[in-house]
Amino acid sequence: MRIMIVKNYNEMSYQAAQLIADQIIYKKNSVLGLATGSTPIGMYKELIRKFQKGELDFSQVVTFNLDEYYGLSIEHPQSYGFFMWNILFRHINLKRENVHLLNGVTKNIDNECRQYEDLIQKNGGIDLQILGIGDNGHIGFNEPDISFDTQTHLVNLTTKTIRANSRFFNNTQEVPKQAITMGIGTIMRAKKIILLANGKRKTKAIERTINSPITTKVPATVLQLHKEVTIIIDKAASSLLASDGNIFFN
Ligand code: F6R
Repeated sequence: MRIMIVKNYNEMSYQAAQLIADQIIYKKNSVLGLATGSTPIGMYKELIRKFQKGELDFSQVVTFNLDEYYGLSIEHPQSYGFFMWNILFRHINLKRENVHLLNGVTKNIDNECRQYEDLIQKNGGIDLQILGIGDNGHIGFNEPDISFDTQTHLVNLTTKTIRANSRFFNNTQEVPKQAITMGIGTIMRAKKIILLANGKRKTKAIERTINSPITTKVPATVLQLHKEVTIIIDKAASSLLASDGNIFFN
């Protein structure tokens, strides 16, 4: 694991966008795995800025989003599909056919999940996967105790996640109770992974991800087994980490 501790959210966003830019410059038709939530918003803004300055071309880039609430269509303002179009896709020159989102209102979940996995494979696998992390250590919507070999699947969200995500809805009741998510197995097949976290709220989850024995109780600990993981965190999220040889300060 490569761990970068940076001074604040802006620096985290900048560094992450720079790694994505490097990936796209190295391979024009890179396959990116993308996350939603508050954490990557600054990184997406930075990617848009790079595109507008003519530094980045997304015309051959392929994307797969990590997850979607079950029961929300892409027209729903809180759906992750809606979020992605609003925050990133409509501002850059990605081709519509290269954007892959899970359909939250599918009538056939098994089929949806299988097709998503097949499409990832057909595109040569994910080159670079972006992840945020839940307070409970979830990655994607893989909540504690989900087995590490899962593929794209339907999950029940924990009360903790529902409560955490209710900040985007009018109230907790409105938050969907299930989601479709890439599995841990899907995520672990990505060639490279970047995990982002900022703020005090993520301190415990980050400390466990890096220092705790690998356990399904903290899904992100599985990343210790991946060969190409970069964790970029701000000072606040790193406050429980002891400085050692593994840790870079930017
Ligand atoms: C989002 C996702 C989730 C979030 C996590 C953190 O696509 O898969 O794992 O990354 O819940 O959310 P924020 O960034 O809102 O704190």
